[in-house]
Amino acid sequence: QLDPLPALTPEFLSVLNKVCEQCYTDFAPDELEMGVRELILKDLETFIRRQFPAARLQLFGSSKNGFGFRQSDLDICMVLEGQETINDVDCISLIESLARLLRKHSGVKNVLPITTAKVPIVKFYHVQTGLEGDISLYNTLALHNTHLLASYAAIDRRVKILCYIMKVFAKMCDIGDASRGSLSSYAYTLMALFFLQQRNPPVIPVLQEIYDGQKKPEVLVDGWNVYFFDDLKALPSRWPQLGGNTESVGELWLGLLRFYTEEFDFREHVVCIRQHARLTTFNKQWTSKYIVIEDPFDLNHNLGAGLSRKMTNFIMKAFINGRRVFGTPHKAFPPIYPSLMEYF
Ligand code: CTP
Ligand code: MG
Repeated sequence: QLDPLPALTPEFLSVLNKVCEQCYTDFAPDELEMGVRELILKDLETFIRRQFPAARLQLFGSSKNGFGFRQSDLDICMVLEGQETINDVDCISLIESLARLLRKHSGVKNVLPITTAKVPIVKFYHVQTGLEGDISLYNTLALHNTHLLASYAAIDRRVKILCYIMKVFAKMCDIGDASRGSLSSYAYTLMALFFLQQRNPPVIPVLQEIYDGQKKPEVLVDGWNVYFFDDLKALPSRWPQLGGNTESVGELWLGLLRFYTEEFDFREHVVCIRQHARLTTFNKQWTSKYIVIEDPFDLNHNLGAGLSRKMTNFIMKAFINGRRVFGTPHKAFPPIYPSLMEYF
């Protein structure tokens, strides 16, 4: 039922590529803005440590993974030095005390503890920058998956640009907010990385499958193996295909939209960036869901588990429309996007 796409002319590809590059330069923060995030973090840590001297704060998510926007939220993980983990009861009560404490901080507003979520958090609004933030506790796997995503982002600049476009696309189509029933930015980033691994020739390797010897090393965190190859300087000698794909970002973006609408069978397969061989929904016993995205470390976590049938259709329609819009040359191309602030 997909419209056929016209053959791609070099002129059209060049316009498409420009749009993609432009999207990246329009949305990417500069060094200064990233520095501001570290300053906010330090200020909060100092404030919190007056009451909780052992508290240590760390940024993760898009402030650190290389796919941050100017307006991206501050994802912060807090741990107490000298304490390995935290149980659910203590976690909730600590989140509540943290919320009471943050309400006394003059630089933040709208402090809200959310203790019913899978990962309890305190939300806040940073007045001076207008940034939203949330603090979670002992979110150790998230620190590791942030490092994994950052490593993929560092391999090739097309990775960064494509993941950006994917996130911008998701936000603009209103399909990128897990708290409102769709998928998180993180889920879309995994989809983009999976596409880049499966592309022929691939743009990026499967870092979790590169290791010395016969057996994958085991680095256990919360019971999951978080090993991946992160010595990127040594990657050229470990992954000979590096540099083998020379497509432009424009080609890759349209390739991604076509991949998820024409090729990838969501009913049959799992979006899974930890192995190159296709993983089936049957293997995972996740057959009741249509969009199945496996977390690279927490293998029990399907990022698409919260999608309703209706939302799934809505997301698929956005991809089908995207394929048509970006795959057809037309007069008003590039599409003009509205003011950034309306969306973030
Ligand atoms: N995360 C996770 N599991 C999820 C959702 C998020 O582990 N189901 C972690 C990931 O480490 C992710 C981080 O939380 O990088 C932040 O998630 P999110 O805000 O969705 O992604 P960002 O990359 O920060 O995107 P944005 O710029 O939209 O904030
Ligand atoms: Mg974030």
